[in-house]
Amino acid sequence: MNSNQNPFNGKFPQDVTKKPGENAIFIVYGLKESSETLDKVKDVCANFSALIRSMRNRYPDMKFSCTMGFGADAWKRLFPEQGTPKELETFKEIKGSKFIAVSTPGDILFHIRCTKMGLCHEFASIIDEKLRGVVYSIDETHGFRYRDGRAIIGFVDGTENPGVDANPYHFGVISDDAPEFVGGSYVFVQKYIHDMVAWNALPVEEQEKVIGRHKYDDVELSDEEKPKNAHNAVTNIGDDLKIIRDNMPWANTSKGEYGTYFIAYASTFTTTRQMLENMFIGNPVGNTDHLLDFSTPLTGTLFFVPSYDLLNKLGD
Ligand code: HEM
Repeated sequence: MNSNQNPFNGKFPQDVTKKPGENAIFIVYGLKESSETLDKVKDVCANFSALIRSMRNRYPDMKFSCTMGFGADAWKRLFPEQGTPKELETFKEIKGSKFIAVSTPGDILFHIRCTKMGLCHEFASIIDEKLRGVVYSIDETHGFRYRDGRAIIGFVDGTENPGVDANPYHFGVISDDAPEFVGGSYVFVQKYIHDMVAWNALPVEEQEKVIGRHKYDDVELSDEEKPKNAHNAVTNIGDDLKIIRDNMPWANTSKGEYGTYFIAYASTFTTTRQMLENMFIGNPVGNTDHLLDFSTPLTGTLFFVPSYDLLNKLGD
């Protein structure tokens, strides 16, 4: 994007509209109270774009990208003079009568994507070394592209993302906030685990009614075929309210653990939250997402992803 043309006051967003890619590492850190914490985090902010440039320069065909986001507590603690983006707050858990979208801690998120997992690892190691002593790991999940971009439950994931006939920047990047937050994004993560035994016991036609699409060719069920509690029925809240999903499957096969790392970038967190409320509480109340009968979130954390311009400033 050319800085003279972009609609975000010339700010450069991080890679919040990129495709999920082949491999990903998701790291959620907590911050330690230490006299070095601020300096080390600022150093990563100041050098973040240069570190990414170096990876892309060394491996131009590897589709390398990384985004960095801050949780509400960390943001206020580290950068009190900055003010807070409108919708940045600690995620409030969503409790329906049957399902709960839990809220779990997280100060800094790194979402590293690359064709080669080894390069994701290399970048994660560089960041980890820079932050050594001032952070502790809350979660690290390694995600992989499964077959033709399918969730581990066997359905193609990401089809309705804005891309072909809708502008992903419009839905993924903040344009309506104080000037320094324009060009940023809200990213929400949830690490889900699936009950694959129960899921695999469902006939394919029943699975298709859970997702709202055909399994083999990803074609959407007709309105007559699609139940009200299908996943794509409850999460579709209109063409004006979309998010950018970059989910990846994860698995520990020998332990029988299979999951989805849900990650969504949005220009307004209320959009993501509305979808979550529809899933976990139901709209109307009780019409909860049938996918939740097979999927449980282990985490749930909201982060703000500043533009590159703001990241550089934070690093000063
Ligand atoms: C258990 C974890 C999840 C899995 C395995 C999953 C999988 C899928 C699949 C297979 C589709 C259909 C293809 C597509 O359009 O992408 C889909 C659609 C969608 N999902 Fe999810 N999803 C999960 C969680 C979520 C959550 C937590 C949200 C929102 C907060 C969400 C929002 C959406 C939206 C907006 C669509 C498109 C609906 C439409 O057709 O307009 N998903 N998901």
